[in-house]
Amino acid sequence: MTETQSTTASEINRVSVIGAGTMGAQIAMVAALAGFSTDLIDIKEQQLEQARTSLAKRLDRDVQKGRRSQDEVDATWDRMNLTTDRDAAVKQSDFVIEAAVEDLGIKKSLFSELDELCPPHTILATNSSNIVSSRIAEATNRPEKVCNMHFFNPALVMKCVEVVPNPQTSSETVATTTALAEAMGKDPVQLHKEVPGFVANRLLNALRKEALDLYNKGIVDFQDIDTAAKTALGHPMGPFELMDLVGIDVVYLIRLAEYEQTGDPASLPDPAVKELYEAGRYGRKSGHGWYSYES
Ligand code: 3HC
Repeated sequence: MTETQSTTASEINRVSVIGAGTMGAQIAMVAALAGFSTDLIDIKEQQLEQARTSLAKRLDRDVQKGRRSQDEVDATWDRMNLTTDRDAAVKQSDFVIEAAVEDLGIKKSLFSELDELCPPHTILATNSSNIVSSRIAEATNRPEKVCNMHFFNPALVMKCVEVVPNPQTSSETVATTTALAEAMGKDPVQLHKEVPGFVANRLLNALRKEALDLYNKGIVDFQDIDTAAKTALGHPMGPFELMDLVGIDVVYLIRLAEYEQTGDPASLPDPAVKELYEAGRYGRKSGHGWYSYES
């Protein structure tokens, strides 16, 4: 392994986010709001337009509520480059955050291409919560500059970012990624070792598993489980509402990826979640999941 140049957080000017879905769009906006020149990259123009519309709604609401000035919002949009031209964007990037689909094959070929395209100092991070970066780093010639940088939904609001090194990640990469998270206004949590699901999702999964078990056994309606989580435990949302926020497709694919990594049948997606996934009921984003959001 050749040791390439390393970057410190203060040397990061340009951040590129790949994938303009719910997570990618808000992660890019967090970076732009923090003052970084930011690319939001997607293969579909329509996805970028959808991201622009939903982000604009959020920022306009901030202005109406007096949380930001119109000048700040205008300057933030000036720093944002929404583009389908991935190759041109990442050639100038200091830090790439991949927030594409939870599919190992896709991530590996993407990282291999990024490795060819990006300058040698660029750190390549994945927002994946379940595919550990050692499985992706092997597709690059810079495994020391590859790690997980995991944001939470909604990324504009949630303060936690998990920074997870793989066995080859350098301490400089961990330090830079942690410092970037702080510069983005987040409270990073640094793991010492890789473990699928990291910390927060493992906690969440324990709750979700129990909630689904109670529901599947017909012991209680899912709405009442949500009520109990909120009124007894003080959670801002119940586990079923949260699945709809995160996306039933995301919940399903994360479990499937976990099963592929562990081979443990206990990791397989819950049958009720599978049913929703197969019916295209992805939660808030599709207008219907556990709950209905059609107006
Ligand atoms: N995007 C951005 N901002 C949002 C938002 C969204 N989707 N939803 C709400 N907000 C912000 C807005 O600023 C809103 O204020 P506004 O209405 O004045 O603009 C403010 O949050 C409060 O929103 P609401 O009054 O609608 O509702 P709440 O007070 O319940 O807050 C919440 C919404 C912040 C989403 C809160 O319910 C919450 O914290 N829920 C739990 C979220 C959570 O657990 N996330 C982790 C999921 S796991 C994950 O992401 C891991 C991944 O790997 C799958």
